[in-house]
Amino acid sequence: MKNILILDHPLIQHKISLLRDKNTDTKEFRELVQEISMLMGYEVTRNMPLKEVEIETPVAIAKTKVISGKKLGIVPVMRAGLGMVDGMLQLLPMAKVGHIGLYRDPQTLEAVEYYCKLPFDVEEREIVILDPMLATGGSASAAIKYIKEKNVNNIKLMCIIAAKAGIERINKDHPDVEIYCGAVDNDLNDHGYIVPGLGDAGDRLFGTK
Ligand code: PRP
Ligand code: URA
Repeated sequence: MKNILILDHPLIQHKISLLRDKNTDTKEFRELVQEISMLMGYEVTRNMPLKEVEIETPVAIAKTKVISGKKLGIVPVMRAGLGMVDGMLQLLPMAKVGHIGLYRDPQTLEAVEYYCKLPFDVEEREIVILDPMLATGGSASAAIKYIKEKNVNNIKLMCIIAAKAGIERINKDHPDVEIYCGAVDNDLNDHGYIVPGLGDAGDRLFGTK
């Protein structure tokens, strides 16, 4: 496995444990996904370039720093990636938000696209794709491929739990993409669910099962 960064901050790890618990209800699950996304976003943006500016404080001129370089875009993979948007926007309120709708065909486990709307200037942005679960990697790989077709060459993938198989698939299909995750799980079951994972992230976020 390469291009993988496991964000091992104690707060992230603690909250992922609560997220995994089958007794965590929809309200708490949603809040936890939001909080974890904000904490992960802090790490994902760690290497953003800075430039020096002058700011007039009430006392004097200060030479200080602001973020420069490419603007950011965030792209949640629907549905479950939607739960990660607000956490990221708390850190990056000016980021543009694109949406990609994909679901996994339950038989083939391949990703099927049903919606896509990206910022008009997407090729000028650094893009962070949001999806809490990286299982077989089919959905994330399809999302990355689609965004690359729009001439974007700087893409990161942020997920909460990643299966080894999913990481390997992204490494193979998109060796240029860095994956940020909170935990790596070893297995997938016969239905393509991550084991131990946390179950169906979309259903747990939106209370649909
Ligand atoms: C989940 C999850 C990912 C995908 C991961 O979405 O949010 O998008 O599965 O699986 P993969 O790595 O094997 O492709 P799902 O298809 O369940 O749709 P939903 O978010 O609408 O529930
Ligand atoms: N999608 C989910 O929501 N959970 C899994 O474990 C795998 C795919």
